[in-house]
Amino acid sequence: MAIKVNEKNRFFQLITKNTEYQIKADKFGVLKHIWYGERTDFDMEYLQNYPDVGFSGNIYEAGNCRTYSLDTMPQEYSCQGIGDFRISAVGITHTDGSGAIDLRYKGYRITKGKYSIPGLPAVYADENEADTLEIDLKDTASDICVTLKYAVLESLDMITRSAVICNKGTTAATLTKAASLCLDIPYGNWEWIHFHGRHTMERLPERAPLIHGIQECSSTRGASSHQQNPAVLICEPDCTETNGNCIGVLLMYSGSFQTQIELDQINQIRMVMGINPELFRWKLNPGEAFYTPEAVMSYSTTGMETLSHNFHKTIRHYVCRGKYKLAERPVLINNWEATYFDFDSDKIFRIAQQAAELGVDMLVLDDGWFGKRNDDCSGLGDWFVNEKKLQGGLGSLTQKITALGMKFGIWFEPEMVSEDSDLYRLHPDWAIQIPGRNPMRSRYQLFLDMSRQKVQDYLYDSIVKILDSADISYIKWDMNRSISDWYTSTLSSDRQGEMAHRYVLGLYSLLERLTTSYPDVLFEGCSGGGGRFDAGMLYYCPQIWCSDDTDAFERTKIQYGTSFFYPISAVGSHVSAVPNHQTGRITPIETRAVAAMAGSFGYELDLNTLSDDEKQAIKSQIVRFKKYGDLIHNGLYYRLSDPMTDEFAVWEYVSEDGSEVLVHGMIFRTSPNTLQIRIRLRGLSPIAMYRLESDGSQYTGKTLMNGGILLPKAWGDYCPIELHFTLVGGD
Ligand code: GLA
Repeated sequence: MAIKVNEKNRFFQLITKNTEYQIKADKFGVLKHIWYGERTDFDMEYLQNYPDVGFSGNIYEAGNCRTYSLDTMPQEYSCQGIGDFRISAVGITHTDGSGAIDLRYKGYRITKGKYSIPGLPAVYADENEADTLEIDLKDTASDICVTLKYAVLESLDMITRSAVICNKGTTAATLTKAASLCLDIPYGNWEWIHFHGRHTMERLPERAPLIHGIQECSSTRGASSHQQNPAVLICEPDCTETNGNCIGVLLMYSGSFQTQIELDQINQIRMVMGINPELFRWKLNPGEAFYTPEAVMSYSTTGMETLSHNFHKTIRHYVCRGKYKLAERPVLINNWEATYFDFDSDKIFRIAQQAAELGVDMLVLDDGWFGKRNDDCSGLGDWFVNEKKLQGGLGSLTQKITALGMKFGIWFEPEMVSEDSDLYRLHPDWAIQIPGRNPMRSRYQLFLDMSRQKVQDYLYDSIVKILDSADISYIKWDMNRSISDWYTSTLSSDRQGEMAHRYVLGLYSLLERLTTSYPDVLFEGCSGGGGRFDAGMLYYCPQIWCSDDTDAFERTKIQYGTSFFYPISAVGSHVSAVPNHQTGRITPIETRAVAAMAGSFGYELDLNTLSDDEKQAIKSQIVRFKKYGDLIHNGLYYRLSDPMTDEFAVWEYVSEDGSEVLVHGMIFRTSPNTLQIRIRLRGLSPIAMYRLESDGSQYTGKTLMNGGILLPKAWGDYCPIELHFTLVGGD
């Protein structure tokens, strides 16, 4: 059992393989945070000894004791309005308009297995893989009760958290904030790394020291967003990939989120993460409960690489679901950058024919196959086949494509509606807009109100109709704008603040229905590339189109940042044409392939326009991806360089059984009369012997990890790297 309780001291220890998290309910019933760090098997409360800090007041029951202050001591779920002036985890407005909540310990439960959260994605695990601790807290004055849930996945060094807030009183209250996690770290000198960006340049890591006050990364866009990601690392200044203390925290949520980190007046840290309170008000009538999304955290004393491995494994095995979660993914060809909106059945079939010859497994028909959709001004919402473009319908096209031995996939953007569409003409009230105001348009489109059951049902029926009309193996689920103008006619005025979260619940509910009804269909998430790349979406879609930027050089940065939390199999990544459509850059086809192989691999160009040499290259790439696929997706991933600062991007995969090692990457620029770049490998067995397949040379693991290996001399810019090692005598 990974959870230990000392009932007398009301002391809880959550113990994983290498780490430990400690909680204590003190004599006043305040739930104190004691420790998160390396496993100590010792009550770490002796480290907490607070002075009388001026202007940090004391709870009433503490009498004359001026050193007991909620404003200084570490807590598990900080409350608003009662004298902790740091970031609060929960905020509330009671019927009388007051806004205080004072949560005190009431009891606990321990169960085997992992709790789940109604309507929300969450880590799942068997009874022998996880244990759950629930701690009940209560605000006596209002009878608002909070249950803090902790699940411990011992072997993964992972702890998950979530809260349930229930109104057991007799009058209504309104939640103004309901965080998933509050994490206090009383000691240390910490920096943070968050992942920022924009459309076509997502999840760039930014590391900065913490400054006094609050720093934040967040989204108010209705989606987790291109601009910030609901994942954050805090680390000590000397922390590197392989050394030092760091904590990773991830929110499993696809809507507007907020992560705040405060460095307080006495140099302690508090992190609070959850739904963004800026767009959140939730009315709790007597008897009603609110469930927060899940936060997932891990601690490492051996640098960020360990954290990444923990998160990759957790997401792959305990977040992603369905047939494809661990299965080999089809190598796909997507027609978007090949044709944009300008295609018909023949053109698509010709691309499929050529792709089949080269070994591609699946054709994905992107935007433009439905309604009146010849550009992005119209058609969204009308999910019926445009037979002017697809002469003979979808059935006939898919039959021809499957006859080539290929699978067929199709694009949807279900959450949207174009004003120029039959759907909008029929149901203008289904679009999100505020009566009396003009809504913001983005890409000429509006959002459908996913909080409405009728909208969800319409989308379910429309998608099912298409899925049942042809042999469809894959859906690309896109979402191409940010949400504004929040309003729904289905909620009363005092409940409008619930809309943003209800939107996400509606989306999840529809995805749950569809993925359950069509367990054999592979869902790929997308939002203008990686605008909703989060663990919430990965619960339904085991892969997500990582970025609309398909430039191999830019991708090294985007995929580098993405890899801190998200596994390689989750990253949709394609080889596209040159000059690249986003940057105009020309990179060799092999370079584009190694970049795209760091993901769920595919192509996105008109293969018919390629030279014979390029076609041969593609054939060989697909053979290689199939050979390395298991190693790439199931192996451990190592970032061997930092492409944000280095002149090269190099990464490594080591197979689960250690028998194979693949080093991929590219040297950005070449220059004459320089030494070759030396790279040190990681994760090898020091005493084992490895053979470099390209020339048969052999090295011990120790040699490759300490001395390293010289990368081939670069010839031309963006020179690709591929070094494949096998364990000598390992097969
Ligand atoms: C988004 C996606 C692209 C493509 C287009 C189609 O931008 O990220 O891959 O599907 O929409 O409109």
